[in-house]
Amino acid sequence: MKVLVTGGAGFIGSNFIRYFLSAHAGVEIVNFDKLTYAGNLRNLADIDSQPNYRFVRADICDADAVDGVLAEGFDAVAHFAAESHVDRSIAGAREFIRTNVEGTWVMLEAARKRKVPRFLHVSTDEVYGSMAPKEMASEKSELAPNSPYAASKAASDLMVRSYVQTHKFPAIITRCTNNYGPYQFPEKLIPLMISNVLAGKKLPVYGDGLNERDWIFVEDHCRALDAVLQKGRIGEIYNIGSGRPVPNIGIVRSLLKLLSAPDGLIEFVQDRPGHDRRYALDDSKIRHELGWQPQVDLDAGLQHTVDWYRANGDWVREATSGEYQEYYEKFYVKRRATLAQL
Ligand code: NAD
Ligand code: DAU
Repeated sequence: MKVLVTGGAGFIGSNFIRYFLSAHAGVEIVNFDKLTYAGNLRNLADIDSQPNYRFVRADICDADAVDGVLAEGFDAVAHFAAESHVDRSIAGAREFIRTNVEGTWVMLEAARKRKVPRFLHVSTDEVYGSMAPKEMASEKSELAPNSPYAASKAASDLMVRSYVQTHKFPAIITRCTNNYGPYQFPEKLIPLMISNVLAGKKLPVYGDGLNERDWIFVEDHCRALDAVLQKGRIGEIYNIGSGRPVPNIGIVRSLLKLLSAPDGLIEFVQDRPGHDRRYALDDSKIRHELGWQPQVDLDAGLQHTVDWYRANGDWVREATSGEYQEYYEKFYVKRRATLAQL
């Protein structure tokens, strides 16, 4: 199976590439990524020289570049590339509309033209908006996105749906809850809190800290995506979650405990505008239909994540200082040129 992964230098995409290559023999992956601030090729440094993996630096909004790669022929596209951070979408939504909506449309159009047999669109539970206590969103729930990020993902989901309906395009949509684990950029709650503790900084908790998120370990998400890619039904939507929403303050306190740091580091700060109170998913469809279920419980996943950030101080330092952005030009291109000469 030859798969084009978009956004493979980001958090979930890089974990997916590592997982997919180790889970299946004889597969091939091309990673198509623009390397925005969120793309870090160091995430894949251990995989880079594998013969069944290749990186292409390009923008999903560049129709010629997308078509040029798809012309090679692929069995599937796994589309992760997106602007993904809610706070950035509040500061400015333009890139979210460009990449998430226009970029997804470019991918759909190019994949349709090249007759790609399977297209996996990686989306989010945020498209359903905030849930009341005890309420859960199923795949049939209405879309009620509240942030510009969520609205751009909902728009991309609807664009995918329109291609399925109008062009009989073979796409599947997944909607997952909050991921955490190794290689997550330290702007999102869990890696930000860990790296702040390691740097002796305060931990900014928005509002009263009682907003709830349903955290899933990234490898469980990757396993679910693999199952959907292999066995999911064309035209369907699959929710993916862990089934136990936790208040943010609970997550922060657990991290402080794991890091042996005092609760006094917590600082309640001004709330995020339009902050969704609670995300909760009914993911019985993927569990029953594809036999998937999460394998990593929250305590074990948080322990593993804290251990990883502790053991990878260089990665954290480079991610925080911005140094990682020089990696492509300074090291990657040179190393590839040297390898090509050998
Ligand atoms: P990320 O921000 O860590 O990575 C995004 C990647 O996409 C980066 O490598 C970036 O360089 C690349 N990219 C951005 N714009 C691009 C463009 N125009 N062309 C090519 N590449 C581009 O994101 P993530 O957290 O890994 O999320 C991946 C996908 O999963 C997104 O679609 C996101 O909406 C979805 N998702 C994320 C979560 C989560 O908790 N992080 C949960 C559910 C769904
Ligand atoms: O639900 C899936 C979504 O999860 C994905 O689609 C998004 O790409 C991903 O970024 C994530 O969105 P959230 O907004 O839920 O994640 P974030 O890590 O930004 O925030 C998690 C919660 O923690 C949220 O309630 C806001 C709060 N928070 C966040 C930050 C960065 C804080 O209290 N303090 C912070 O500094």
